[in-house]
Amino acid sequence: MNILHAASELYPLIKTGGLADVLGALPFAQRQSGDDVRVILPYYRTIRHQIPYTAEVARCDTPGGYAVIRYAEYRGLGLYLIDAPHLYDREGNPYYGADYRDYADNVVRFGLLGWAAAAVAAGADPFWNRVDVLHAHDWQAGLAAAYLKAWDVPVKSVFTIHNIAYQGLFNAKHLSELWLPQHMYQIEGLEFRGEISFLKAGLYYSDHITTVSPTYAQEIAVSGYGMEGLLKLRRSQGRLSGMLNGVDEAVWNPAADAELAVAYDAEHASEGKAANKTALQRHFGLHQDADAMLCVMVSRLTEQKGADFLLEALQTKLAEDPKMQFALLGSGSPELEQAFLQLAAAYPERVGVHIGYDEKLAHRLIGGGDVILVPSRFEPCGLTQLYGLKYGTLPLVRRTGGLADTVAGWDGVSDGLDATGFVFDKADAAALESAFNTALAAWADKALWDRLRRCAMAQDFGWLRAADSYRICYESLI
Ligand code: ADP
Ligand code: GLC
Repeated sequence: MNILHAASELYPLIKTGGLADVLGALPFAQRQSGDDVRVILPYYRTIRHQIPYTAEVARCDTPGGYAVIRYAEYRGLGLYLIDAPHLYDREGNPYYGADYRDYADNVVRFGLLGWAAAAVAAGADPFWNRVDVLHAHDWQAGLAAAYLKAWDVPVKSVFTIHNIAYQGLFNAKHLSELWLPQHMYQIEGLEFRGEISFLKAGLYYSDHITTVSPTYAQEIAVSGYGMEGLLKLRRSQGRLSGMLNGVDEAVWNPAADAELAVAYDAEHASEGKAANKTALQRHFGLHQDADAMLCVMVSRLTEQKGADFLLEALQTKLAEDPKMQFALLGSGSPELEQAFLQLAAAYPERVGVHIGYDEKLAHRLIGGGDVILVPSRFEPCGLTQLYGLKYGTLPLVRRTGGLADTVAGWDGVSDGLDATGFVFDKADAAALESAFNTALAAWADKALWDRLRRCAMAQDFGWLRAADSYRICYESLI
């Protein structure tokens, strides 16, 4: 099969979150079954620096102005890069500028991503003119299927929702700039509450919709930011499914992780984790106490991630229990950043906070923590709890989306032979505090903790399983 993915991020070239991790792993796993898998991305400034040598595939007039579609091989993977410097040659984040405000021209920046993906699928590359499946990810690539439809190109399309909370909404006046026919702007199309929705275009025009966990697929067909009606319909047609993400073993593997103080496998988890924990406590200037339960978090700081009620619960637990420690790597809402920094100032020996984005430190936190916190209000899949499982850092998560599908909560009494972490239900501080208490009870029993950790580290979240599910989905379409 010839498969083209369209997305706005790919680790390690450009990353703001889990979407990049998926695009940095899934296409590679898919190639293992012999398929020709390629990815199309904007040629952002940072990618231009990392991949300076490319071949020209096509020059075109596009809805985003004049652009060149380039091609390069990256770690054996074919990449199409959309070269339009006036849109993508900018410093830093792919979506917004130094003032944290979305770029005013995002409508054409990502309109062009969908357009160029459809153009390649329609044969713009003379050396790759039979694409079987165009697989677009999140709203940024949402228009791809709309263009295929508008041009009547018989290529099958799949759209994956990584986060339905981001919908790519733009004023209707932009429709003509996007070179889409007026008739697509309607309820049975890409119109959503008086605006253009790139996400809805993906949901409406794609042949199949997937999301990144079975539970999230259920949840969004009930409450999906206004898309639940459409999703319920598509589900009843067998056009919506949930497939769990995996872990890229080449990047996240405690036995071969160069960022760790000491690499370790399941057989040596106890010593390995102890050494990494001490190193982490030292890094954050925390009390080097092996008996303290060190909870870590690596996250965007937003509403979604439950960081607000986490703060509240931490304030209570830190005051109550001298054995609690907490270390955070995160960035996002300035208020939350400030609040966590204040918490660290109040408990300098027990709380460490690093505001920023740091890939290496993320590995050290996940390697050195005892517990990884993911108290999300909603979570399509979630990756850090999977990294936690792999590293024997027990996840403490809210029962939602992919978290519900990947963590088996210890019930507080059993022998711990089939549990991998701690799970709570209500999105509030009280429920989270009680989950902390359950975790602390397990922590007090070292033999139990060892069993939980063993069980966590034995879980298999390899990408090949997900690649198989996508293959079955593609085959059903062709
Ligand atoms: P989301 O995509 O919603 O942010 P995921 O759990 O799917 O959540 O993926 C988050 C990814 O981003 C993980 O690879 C995580 O390690 C990484 N990450 C999040 N915040 C940071 C940060 N401040 N520094 C380094 N990595 C981070
Ligand atoms: C989104 C979701 C996250 C998911 C990631 C990769 O960013 O918020 O839950 O793991 O995409 O699919």
